[in-house]
Amino acid sequence: IKYVPEPFRIKVVEPLRMLTHEEREVKIAEAKYNLFNLKGEDCYIDLLTDSGTNAMSQEQWAGVMRGDEAYAGASSYFKLMEAGKDIFGFGFIQPVHQGRAAEKVVFPLLLSEGKFAISNMFFDTTRAHVILSGARPIDCVVAEAKDPSKRAPFKGNMDIAKMEEVIKEKGPENIGLVVMTITNNSAGGQPVSMKNLREVSVLAKKYGIPMCIDAARYAENAHFIKRDEPEYKDVSIKDIVREMFSYGDLFTMSAKKDTIVNMGGLLGVKDADSPLVLKIKANCISYEGFFTYGGLAGRDMEALAIGLYEGIDENYLRYRIGQMEYLAARLDDAGIAYQSPVGGHGVFVDAAAMFPHIPYNEYPGQVLCVELYKEAGIRTCDIGSYMLGNDPDTGEQLKADFEFSRLAIPRRVYTQAHLDIMADALIAIKERAHTIKRGYKITWEPPILRHFQASLAPI
Ligand code: F0G
Repeated sequence: IKYVPEPFRIKVVEPLRMLTHEEREVKIAEAKYNLFNLKGEDCYIDLLTDSGTNAMSQEQWAGVMRGDEAYAGASSYFKLMEAGKDIFGFGFIQPVHQGRAAEKVVFPLLLSEGKFAISNMFFDTTRAHVILSGARPIDCVVAEAKDPSKRAPFKGNMDIAKMEEVIKEKGPENIGLVVMTITNNSAGGQPVSMKNLREVSVLAKKYGIPMCIDAARYAENAHFIKRDEPEYKDVSIKDIVREMFSYGDLFTMSAKKDTIVNMGGLLGVKDADSPLVLKIKANCISYEGFFTYGGLAGRDMEALAIGLYEGIDENYLRYRIGQMEYLAARLDDAGIAYQSPVGGHGVFVDAAAMFPHIPYNEYPGQVLCVELYKEAGIRTCDIGSYMLGNDPDTGEQLKADFEFSRLAIPRRVYTQAHLDIMADALIAIKERAHTIKRGYKITWEPPILRHFQASLAPI
């Protein structure tokens, strides 16, 4: 198994501590079996998310010192605008403090009660913001995404036929928005092909529906297009990114992922003269802050402007996706199922395959997450029925298409030895999986985005 060596060396280190097995048993019980309730310092390897957990470069840290903290018209704002427009080719870009802030600012301008939003797959916060606006989300991901063991390229794609069916069934006037999530996080960080982006954009235009790119992991997506879509083999990542964005009318972006910073987001409108721009600025001033900082410090915008370029560096991306491929290859050797081929920001282990005797409403994904913490102090999160939650209209537990435990890998943070610990822990759990008979029940839950806060108990 080849490990692509790091295209950097380490200058600053952060010590880790490892609790004993007994201590971890106590901690997870005190956390009510919800890994979001654990303290970061009690996790040896923290794979809860790849969002905001990345290591910045020396250039970015130098940028932090150069950050201009002017309330209005800071030079860091203009630097960020220049980088954003250069890479994405959009006429208007609004900084916001993170991805969901972009969703909160723009979704209510396009969605309301009685409307629908269609996506290849909504991430949980995008789904929540569609529901908060009064509309209803509909996922139309391709069928092969739902079969984790089926290796197919671009399992993040939209099912075009299904999308058109939904548009006709609900009526084009009732579809407020099409959202293309790249990469498709909930389907396992699976990429979307350029062809699919193009086709979705043609269909959305045909029915006069605006298309928004949920672009958190756009650079990883571009890497997959270069690797797997033959006509892009010799095209630079920057040019691929430019073409991907050319198919959107809008984009929302959590910059906490592929732009390798700890905080930040962007909201783009292709046409700077669109009437949406003034409304976005107004919402931003109310919710986020004046439109030349949008909830960010000048130093954050400066680091973000630099990270936009570091994130599309081809050597970096080869190493980055190489880490996923290495971990996935170790799981292949051990016969552990995951969403395959491996996606861009983590390995999504198929917990339903590891615990076939535990039903969806006992949350097999969460079972594996708890076991990983007990086994090796590894913190992960459920991407399955536990995360999906209840039907907003009937209150009934929904059954997710998959039961994943997500090992999301922060950027430029962990080494090959850490990846080996992850693989070894999964192998050890697989060997005793049949001894874990039951899952969890929820003893308390809030009405929306429950997985962040809910309490659980073993059955
Ligand atoms: N869209 C996608 C595809 C995401 O993955 C996320 C966040 C967001 C939007 C929201 O962005 O967190 O900056 O407000 N995903 C993180 C994750 C939290 O762990 O996958 P945010």
